[in-house]
Amino acid sequence: MLGFEESYEVCNCKRVTIKHIVDAVKNNEAKTLRDIQDITTAGTECRHCIFSEADFGRIKKKIYCKDILNEVKKEITNG
Ligand code: FES
Repeated sequence: MLGFEESYEVCNCKRVTIKHIVDAVKNNEAKTLRDIQDITTAGTECRHCIFSEADFGRIKKKIYCKDILNEVKKEITNG
């Protein structure tokens, strides 16, 4: 996924990995960032991991929930 291991922790506050988020989207439960927050709890604390524009952390994240959502959606559409 975008050059990262599936075990890579996207949300450090809630300890949510890429795999958690990919599974939530692939199982067709999560269609929006809000759904990802509700289902995985990623992005529900400091919220820096949701998308780059919301990353006010001193050290920027390498990957965001939004990137994963878009990537999995693309995979689903392209088969
Ligand atoms: S890193 Fe995801 S809510 Fe803080």
